[in-house]
Amino acid sequence: MRRILVTSALPYANGQIHLGHLVETIQTDIWVRFQKLHGNECFYFCADDTHGTPVMIRARQEGITPETLVARMHAEHLGDFQGFHIGFDNYYTTNSEENRLLSEEVYLNNRAAGNIRVSTVRQAFCAQDNMFLPDRFIRGICPTCGAEDQYGDACEVCSGSHSPLDLKQPRCAICGNPPVERDSEHFFFRLTAFEAFLKGWIRSGALQPEMANKLDEWFEAGLQDWDISRDGPYFGFEIPDAPGKYFYVWLDAPIGYMASTWEWCKRNGRDFDAIWRRDDQMEVYHFIGKDILYFHTLFWPATLKGAGFRVPTSVFTHGFLTVNGQKMSKSRGTFITARQYLEHLDPEYLRYYYAAKLTARVDDLDLNLDDFILRVNSDLVGKVVNIASRSAGFIQKRFGGNLAEHYPEDGGLHAQFVTAGEEIAQLYEAREFSKAMRAIMTLADLANRFVEAKAPWNLAKDPDRDRELADTCTVAINLFRILMIYLQPVLPQLALKCQEFLRLPPFTWESRREPMHHQAIGEFTHLMARVDPKKVEALVQLAAPATPSAPAVPKSKAAPPPPAPTPSPAPADSSPPLDIDTFSQVDLRVARILSAAPVEGADKLLQLTLDLGDLGQKTVFAGIRSAYDPQTLPGRLTVVVANLKPRKMRFGVSEGMVLAAGSGGNELFLLSPDLGATPGMRIR
Ligand code: 2FM
Ligand code: ZN
Repeated sequence: MRRILVTSALPYANGQIHLGHLVETIQTDIWVRFQKLHGNECFYFCADDTHGTPVMIRARQEGITPETLVARMHAEHLGDFQGFHIGFDNYYTTNSEENRLLSEEVYLNNRAAGNIRVSTVRQAFCAQDNMFLPDRFIRGICPTCGAEDQYGDACEVCSGSHSPLDLKQPRCAICGNPPVERDSEHFFFRLTAFEAFLKGWIRSGALQPEMANKLDEWFEAGLQDWDISRDGPYFGFEIPDAPGKYFYVWLDAPIGYMASTWEWCKRNGRDFDAIWRRDDQMEVYHFIGKDILYFHTLFWPATLKGAGFRVPTSVFTHGFLTVNGQKMSKSRGTFITARQYLEHLDPEYLRYYYAAKLTARVDDLDLNLDDFILRVNSDLVGKVVNIASRSAGFIQKRFGGNLAEHYPEDGGLHAQFVTAGEEIAQLYEAREFSKAMRAIMTLADLANRFVEAKAPWNLAKDPDRDRELADTCTVAINLFRILMIYLQPVLPQLALKCQEFLRLPPFTWESRREPMHHQAIGEFTHLMARVDPKKVEALVQLAAPATPSAPAVPKSKAAPPPPAPTPSPAPADSSPPLDIDTFSQVDLRVARILSAAPVEGADKLLQLTLDLGDLGQKTVFAGIRSAYDPQTLPGRLTVVVANLKPRKMRFGVSEGMVLAAGSGGNELFLLSPDLGATPGMRIR
């Protein structure tokens, strides 16, 4: 039995959990649940990341202490994660005594080993707020391109990076006053001394190949010592022997992984030292997003090594979440919080959808809401649950709930399902969840084909074929049970319902081998409902702001230059007047683009599948290929002429026309309704 410790990144205490966080926690949770199901000893530790300036400022703005704020956020975060069945062994906080002691120890050990140096740095200071200002709390004119209202460290307009002291007309983001410059002593961790160690650690196979390459780039650019201190006031831990100086939040945040372990060890009579100090054959894995790679693969292993603690076995990095092909956005209604999702939809839909798309690579994951509905409905409801719902009723009604006496001849299906478990286990282990889901669905297809070929609904009509009916349903129930064992890491709630319905003890991976027979099962209850597209739509509406938002320009930014005047249309462009009755014969509707694909042999066209709500779906060939990458279209709303006579084209029948603006060239602009419109709405 392996012993495994797993973490996911600690969410900041100043924000809500959203669907982006859940890519990681769901990925981690599936892996952990698989390890436990497979018989390994596996622990999953996480916590809230509580320290730093943003939490301090927010608490100040709310008129509460940072401690009160972080306690509230902790309860919210934990509730959200539980709502998604994330099975932490401990969800702790970095603002804890354990974390303070461990942070001090990591620091003091490194100091004793000569890994800390002190240097004076010149920094922006706000006399009004009486504090040094972190880069993000200074705004001013970009020294490179002159854009106004940029952060102290980087410009969103020219993407250049700069020092806050170079910003022109700087001002404090809290009070608006210009800061002054002040010297301050800072503590630096000598990362440069760990280059050889880090290179060796990476060569040990601790990272995915693409991430190891990224690190090579960083080594080539040259490592820099790391500033681990901040001046007070700061919400964090004071540095030993340095009154008024605090550990930078990123020093104590990953130590939170250890603190969470320690607190759990104390409550469960386990030996913390054996895990983090002596490394008694414990594997340690961190799941993280690609944005925090630097912290987890350079600073973290180096500070651990320097302090005499064990280092992680591996760091598993994933990509970002996009929704309908784009960054999550409040104005598009795709910045969805965990809470909002849970108010509308079953968490297991999302767990399955993410699993169906997750790989061991660092690619971004797209949550396409239409695909989400299709995939969950067709795989989980249409394939998996269907097997049980088509066979359990007969066992119940015709045989008093009893399965066949002996496991019947099934043409080798059961054996095939059991064997497939080897490969599926390897795929889970390798974090190739997408491939694992495909393998499971291939089995589900086989089971459905078996049921269809045997047609129990026909057997049931013939009293002489009772035996065959019982055998068929027994096989089907057994195949369903194996599928549910394989899906348990992804769908723990559904698996639990199945155990209850089948009257079985908790599943183990090995338990798949023994078929059920000569035993009674319970009444089949409704296991999972189909995803209701209306609820998805309602969720998007809820997540979108009530009124259309202004263009995405931060407040107080200078207005963009006015657009060049458009010449008034030439008389030749205007059409003869149209009476209102004629116009109202045109049935204009809102449509959602479900899919978009190039048309072979027609380089101007895209084939669109449109959802028109109550009017159903339509296929339309649209001449917009010059202006749109088809991948960016699914999910967006547009306007369509719905009652155009279907037109037979070389490639198929076009059942409508989408509306786009343009002046005759390749530039085209698809029309879109304002936020709040839904597919099928009539345009009046
Ligand atoms: O990026 C973040 O959201 C950080 N709060 C992650 C911290 S992970 C760990 F190091 F604590
Ligand atoms: Zn200020």
